[in-house]
Amino acid sequence: MTHEVSALPHILTLDSYVPGKPIETLAREKNLTKIIKLASNENPYGPSPHVLEAIKNHLNTINLYPDPDQFILKQALAKFYGITTDMLAIGNGTDELLRLIMQAFVSQDNNVIIPKYSFISYQICARSIGAEIITTKLCENWQNDLEDILNKINPHTKLICLVNPNNPTGSYIEHSAIEAFIEKVPNDIVIILDEAYIEYINFIRNSDPSLSLVKKYHNVIITRTFSKIYGLAGIRVGYSMACPNITAIINRLKQPFNVNRLGQVAAAAAIEDQEYIKKLVSINNTERTKICAHLDSLHIDYIKSAANFITIDTKSAKNSEDIYNKLLDNGIIIRPLNNYGLDKYLRITIGSTEENQYLLNNLSKL
Ligand SMILES: Cc1ncc(COP(=O)(O)O)c(C=O)c1O
Repeated sequence: MTHEVSALPHILTLDSYVPGKPIETLAREKNLTKIIKLASNENPYGPSPHVLEAIKNHLNTINLYPDPDQFILKQALAKFYGITTDMLAIGNGTDELLRLIMQAFVSQDNNVIIPKYSFISYQICARSIGAEIITTKLCENWQNDLEDILNKINPHTKLICLVNPNNPTGSYIEHSAIEAFIEKVPNDIVIILDEAYIEYINFIRNSDPSLSLVKKYHNVIITRTFSKIYGLAGIRVGYSMACPNITAIINRLKQPFNVNRLGQVAAAAAIEDQEYIKKLVSINNTERTKICAHLDSLHIDYIKSAANFITIDTKSAKNSEDIYNKLLDNGIIIRPLNNYGLDKYLRITIGSTEENQYLLNNLSKL
């Protein structure tokens, strides 16, 4: 008698994450030499020169395992934010932290509340645990409907995932509304506040109000990443800030060497060069205004964005597919949103000035 290996039922039905098409893949498929990727909200200018210097200086130590306590990086982050290192967990991207948080707090008997059209990894992660997912609606302006989240909390709710600014819509909810919402959530429910794109707002208003939330509310975890404005998506570093109790739980679960040596030194150098980040935020926001004006002139609707991407409304799934494919033919990779259930929409990352011009020229032709 033969036995076949079988995975758990909720794993067998799991859809995996579909990332933006890599440049290397398109180059192979279409034999193109000039390709620009505006699909994964990466920073088109790369990290600060100090970061590259720090990486170079550490290349000769990669025969050694990395520091499992991530001491240097935690010190740099703690100094920058004015918090203690026991409030920081560092992950192999925030993706890893998200998994660890779900693993630590959510079981098959629980539910996780995830707003509609929110970063899809949350759904994949909750499904991989076998937890129920409760989806909440968006308001008319594409903002998460915080009232709807509160209404859908039930005794089995263990986790609420809020992305602000939200991906893939780019919509942003003001800090005061977030705080008023947190105040009403029972404090035995964990709230992840994913702020992967918060720097695009904080540098403009010159303040970081959500930081106070992790000091005040012991059920709130803020996650942030070095993959976006800091330009380090390829080296994989993200971090969470939460009260020491929650942080200790996340750190207990992490693999000892989850963040590699180069990632640790690169991120520490990156956080220290805030002038560079400020400059990039300013360029991004100027380019965003420019792209929106161009979209207006082409009568293309889009969702107002606070981040480094814009989601456009093509009015039909067929239009989306056509535009996506024609841009691919011209070496431009953007992001279809079919897996979000937004098949009439396409998400475009704001690239460098030159990349944006190339995109806009091509969009105009289409
Ligand atoms: C909202 C949001 N959270 C988290 C991530 C993942 O970031 P990381 O590269 O740190 O894993 C992304 C990446 O696109 C994102 O958009």
